[in-house]
Amino acid sequence: MSGKFLCVLDGEKFDVPPVWMMRQAGRYLPEYRETRAKAGGFVDLCLDPDLASEVTLQPIRRFGFDAAIIFSDILIVPYALGAKLWFEESEGPRLEPVANAANFGKLSDQLDGKITSRVYEALAKTKAALPKETGLIGFCGAPWTVATYLVAGRGTEDQAPARLLAMQEPELFRKIIDRLVDSSAEHLIGQLKAGADAVQIFDTWSGVLDPASFERWCVKPVAKIAEKVRSVVPNARIIVFPKGASLDGIEAVAKQSSANAISIDWITDRKECAVRFGDKLAIQGNLDPLALLAGGKALDQAVDKVLADFKGARHIFNLGHGIRKETPVEHVERMIARVRKN
Ligand code: CP3
Repeated sequence: MSGKFLCVLDGEKFDVPPVWMMRQAGRYLPEYRETRAKAGGFVDLCLDPDLASEVTLQPIRRFGFDAAIIFSDILIVPYALGAKLWFEESEGPRLEPVANAANFGKLSDQLDGKITSRVYEALAKTKAALPKETGLIGFCGAPWTVATYLVAGRGTEDQAPARLLAMQEPELFRKIIDRLVDSSAEHLIGQLKAGADAVQIFDTWSGVLDPASFERWCVKPVAKIAEKVRSVVPNARIIVFPKGASLDGIEAVAKQSSANAISIDWITDRKECAVRFGDKLAIQGNLDPLALLAGGKALDQAVDKVLADFKGARHIFNLGHGIRKETPVEHVERMIARVRKN
């Protein structure tokens, strides 16, 4: 029998929803910080199958979440296409920028199997070690979001470099997106074959685009990935996370990709979402990560509100974005106890 997480993706509802958290393996956990120090760099940790599997399992052991998400990063795809990737400590990821035709020409059109096979090995190891009822999630970044890092070579405040390139050199930008569509689909297929029960497509920066650009650079590429994945794995369960998108935008992504679930940020109106999608799709979300950081009464009230607003919907309890690294572990325990009514 599948656990609750997969049951909700497959159409069931529960009074007590399944629960997991974006970035549940990460720096708020002392055991993560210890393993991270042992691994050396962040990329080394992502690409060591034993350690990546270990940190994936850490939050499952500690909290008993209903799903595990494989420890990796959305930037592993451009890295496996040949873009240099490194992490500046206490700053964030850096990539060799791809913002002109000459740099694009240096990117491979094939993922380097020596890199991606490490992710698949980590998934297989994790699958073997997980309790039967715990779902295992693979993921990739959506092409638009990955392109914002690839074009700028780093995270940027308003994603201006990618937006500008899309305006100035739409043909080059289309090629970058197409390359990411093909490679991301291949990476999701690899993860599903290695044992992922579902995959999530993270479009963290979809909220900065005007409606026509959103359709072109977010909706269509994600739909294309879903189509390619399902042409090889017909029953693939796909969760889409178009962060910052309007309800109409979320609906367009979900419909055109035939998603099994949408993940929503904390700004999205829950009740409207439940009315629009409640029976058609699973809805994952959407506690404000700051409510989790705040703790105490504010946390209790915020958790209760999320649960009440999604009552009767196919709900997977999650945050509206990743957990913040300053969050006390006891707040996570409190949140889970409240969701599970312990
Ligand atoms: O959710 C999980 O627990 C699985 C692992 C995971 C990570 N990154 C690990 C990570 C997932 C699903 C991601 C996705 C990811 N990576 C996104 C999309 C989701 C989101 O959060 O918006 C993006 C935009 C990235 C790119 C990225 N990776 C950034 C911008 C950063 C730096 C920001 C930060 O939090 O430091 C990372 C680093 C990163 N990825 C960390 C982790 C645990 C922290 C690195 C560390 O240990 O030093």
